[in-house]
Amino acid sequence: MDPLSLREFEAAARARLEPAYYDYFAGGAGDEVTMRANEAAFGRLGLVPRVLRGVGKLQTGVTLLGCRAAMPVLVAPTAFHRLADPDGERATARAAAAAETIMIVSMAATVAIEEVAAAAAGGELWFQLYVQPDLAFTERIVRRAEAAGSGALVVTADSPVLGRRERELRHGFDDLPDHLCCENLRDGDRVRPIVLWPELSWEHLAALRDMTALPIVLKGVTHPADARLAVKHGASAIMVSNHGGRQLDGVPATIDLLPEIVAEVGGALPVLLDGGVRRGTDVLKALALGAAAVAVGRPVLWGLAADGERGVSGVLGLLRAEVEHALTLCGCASVLDLEPGMVRRSC
Ligand code: FNR
Ligand code: LAC
Repeated sequence: MDPLSLREFEAAARARLEPAYYDYFAGGAGDEVTMRANEAAFGRLGLVPRVLRGVGKLQTGVTLLGCRAAMPVLVAPTAFHRLADPDGERATARAAAAAETIMIVSMAATVAIEEVAAAAAGGELWFQLYVQPDLAFTERIVRRAEAAGSGALVVTADSPVLGRRERELRHGFDDLPDHLCCENLRDGDRVRPIVLWPELSWEHLAALRDMTALPIVLKGVTHPADARLAVKHGASAIMVSNHGGRQLDGVPATIDLLPEIVAEVGGALPVLLDGGVRRGTDVLKALALGAAAVAVGRPVLWGLAADGERGVSGVLGLLRAEVEHALTLCGCASVLDLEPGMVRRSC
């Protein structure tokens, strides 16, 4: 029987994945406090529905930076999809395109951005970038993303160094198997290692702003002061994210950080969120509190590992159906009708 929920997809994926790969996908940094908090915080929020509002046809679509998505749930950038499925990011891209949503392709993809774009066949893609200290090399990667049709550049800011993930250390998982590599890091006849760069600063964001006409989404903002700086430095959107609890352990749950950040930017730019979204009701809570859309990371990997493209379609389809169901139960005909008064801290 097909999984009935995202959590059942995780169980199906776990049964199929090598333990080291499962733990790479599933794990977080340190004591995994942040990772658990992301999901738990959604559970502590209640949705207070409205009644008798004559909800008919539902409107779940959103437009983000000029890109249309049929639902307010995007595919977050995650590395190494070919550890989950031989087709890897190609399969994910086909499923995201079929669901008419935006896939954010990781720079650490195991399929080149050009091939992912070919698989998406017109579906919306955004490209996630770890700015490399060799800025000329960074620019070549940005040009590839532009040429492949990326609709935005998602710059990850929460990774000056890699989080310490004890599950990976326990398995000795520190590199891809020989037949796989990060195809977006090809440079001539070699593949460069991804460098995480502690010196990355706001000046580099300004340089990137000058390098490309693509809108820049700053991913990994958790402090309201940084949200303000993102606006000042020309970001087109921000993504409230703690990297799914894989970087600094102890960062609060993203859904708890969201309201202050939304208040801080005051509508100057769209605010996206990821971390712990596992139900349609989680999507509604984030939108009610001011997110323009959310993204899911691990659930997509569970779908991919469980059943390839069909599994990713299953995950995105479940989320879509749950969003529609919850909207109807909340008396909202549109995702735009959600508002902060419908969310309460309940337990
Ligand atoms: C990630 N994430 C991530 N983020 C990023 O900017 N570039 C990347 O290459 C990756 N790689 C990656 C691999 C794996 C296995 C995971 C689980 C996550 C973080 C990702 O974009 C997102 O922030 C979180 O996954 C969101 O949390 P959930 O939905 O997994 O709870
Ligand atoms: C991770 C890196 C690749 O979270 O972003 O594993």
